[in-house]
Order: sequence, then C-alpha cells, then structure tokens
Amino acid sequence: MARKKIALIGGGQIGGTLAHLMAQRHLGDIVLFDIVEDLPHGKMLDLMEASPLQGFDLSLTGSNQVEEIKGADLVVVTAGLARRPGMSRDDLVTVNAKVISAVSEHIRTYAPDAFVILLTNPLDAMVSLCRKVTGFPRNRIMGMAGVLDSARFAAFIAQELNVSVQDVNALVLGGHGDEMVPLVRFANVNGIPVQFLLERKYGPEKAQGVMDALVSRTRHAGGEIVGLMKTSAFVSPASAAFTMAESILLDRKRILPVCALLEGEYGVNGYFLGVPCVIGAGGVEQIIELELTPEERVMFNESVSQVKSLVDAMTL
Ligand code: APR
Repeated sequence: MARKKIALIGGGQIGGTLAHLMAQRHLGDIVLFDIVEDLPHGKMLDLMEASPLQGFDLSLTGSNQVEEIKGADLVVVTAGLARRPGMSRDDLVTVNAKVISAVSEHIRTYAPDAFVILLTNPLDAMVSLCRKVTGFPRNRIMGMAGVLDSARFAAFIAQELNVSVQDVNALVLGGHGDEMVPLVRFANVNGIPVQFLLERKYGPEKAQGVMDALVSRTRHAGGEIVGLMKTSAFVSPASAAFTMAESILLDRKRILPVCALLEGEYGVNGYFLGVPCVIGAGGVEQIIELELTPEERVMFNESVSQVKSLVDAMTL
C-alpha cells in the first residue's frame, strides 16, 4: 500500500519543524513547498541526511513548483507572514489574505480531494477564506488553534501544580485571539478538577486569583513568546498541527478543539470557530456541542463577535 502524501505549503519555522515531526513518526511522504528559492530544497535535504540517524524511510521533497503538491492526501498551510513584536494576529490580515487566497487556488487545482489544516494567522479568518476559495466540504477543512491554546493552558496548569503534563486535560474554545475561551470548569488532572487542586493548595480565595492568572497567561501566550523571541512560536504550533494530522491520517478519532465551520452549532452559522470535534479519517467527523454556562456563553459570544468583525471586514 502506498504511503500517504502530505503537502506542507510554507517552509518557514513551523513548516520545517512540522516536516521533522511528521518524518520522525512516519506519517507519510512529504513535499515542502515555499516561494523562497532553494529554501525548501535545503530544508528537506537536511532532513533526508538525518534519516539514517533517525531511521525514517520516506520520500522527502522540497520544491518551488506548486504542482508538486499534486494528489496530496493532506495539505497543511503555514504560508504567510508571522507576527513581530507589537503586532496582533489581526494585523496580519491584509497581507496574509492575499497569500491564502493564492494558496487556496493551488489546493483546489492540485489537491482537490485533500484534507486541509490551516495555521496561518489570523487563523479564523484565513480558514474561512480558504473554504470560500476551495469550496471544500466542512469536514475537509479546519484550522489549528485550540489544540495549541489548550496545550499552553495544560502546560501552565502542570507547572503551577507541579504535576505531570501527561495527566492534565485542558480545553480552550472560541477564536484564536485574546478573546479565546479557556474552559476552567473542564480543566482536570486525571479527572480531578484543577479548581479543587488549586483550592487544596492555596485556599478558595487565593485559588481563584491563581486560576485567573493561568487563564490570562493562556490568552496572551502567543504574544509572550513573540515578546521574547521577536517572532512567533514554532515548536508548539507544529506539535499541535502534528497532533491533528496524525489523528486524520491514522484515523485516531481524537476529540480535539479545532477551528471548524459552524452551521448552527453553538448558535453560530457560517463562521469558523474553535470547538471540540472528533478528528479521524473523515476529517471533522463530529462537532461536539457543549452546554455553556451563562459566563462561558458571554465569553464565547465576545470571541464570536471578534471573529465575525474580522471576517466581515476582510477585503482582497
Ligand atoms: N506560498 C508558499 N509559501 C509562502 C507564500 C506563498 N504564497 N508566501 C509566504 N510563504 C512562506 C514564506 O516564504 C515563509 O518561508 O511562508 C513561510 C512562513 O514562514 P515563517 O515566516 O517562518 O512563519 P512561521 O513562524 O512558520 O508562521 C507561519 O503560521 O502560526 C502562523 O502566525 C503564523 O501566520 C504565521 C504562519
């Protein structure tokens, strides 16, 4: 049986890291496409030369010819500008909309049957644009944000409680902006609510303040990294995209928060937002609608408004 074909569009920091992760786990043959001359060839040659040491037998191709993505089973898009200090994700909208529009046409032409995972920011708007251009059904097109935001939330919780990250479950819904919605109620360590563990450690009054600080740090985690590195994160976003890709290609049916097209779920119609979904060989196989508390609903609605205004204002 032939190996799956994976096309990575954008061979920058995230694209290159993702190629490495995918190769290490044998997800499929990889084509890395970028418009910068020789860059993808160099990155894939480097990876190919590491293969005897890391033990992967895959076809690894770098290219400036977009036709090379032809027939891909999965396309992951990271093409576009990344944030610099002082920029919000939304500041990228004009320039990245042009990139995503062109890239989406390529996907429609050369990989019409592919599943698509988008990472380019501002995420919710870029996925929406990609859907518009490709016309792909909603199960085949999704954005990566919630998996990363949830991992960040989980990492901060584990650090705060001094427990293994392996046991922490955390869920962040909504758009991939500062209005995202970390669901405190669902955060747990092997089933034990994080709120309970914080109260046990600090007492009820202080525990609330600590939880608020974890939520706030999660919301601004992307910006924290931009402030330190002067460009945006790449290992954690690539790891999150890998998790989604693996769930599709290996039909793992993981429940992951992904940016999916809502058609009435959560009271939203026609916009992409981060919600829990079953991700498997059919892509977005199910959207899981949670009953939100009134406070969570207020936060979710704020996030929806932010996404809507960006999408509605988007011009090419
Ligand atoms: N087609 C293909 N590649 C493109 C195109 C295009 N039309 N336009 C730009 N690129 C490439 C750039 O040449 C660059 O190599 O996209 C790559 C982006 O890489 P980086 O600048 O290193 O950015 P990265 O950190 O990988 O982030 C990419 O994902 O999470 C988001 O906010 C992030 O929007 C950013 C994107």
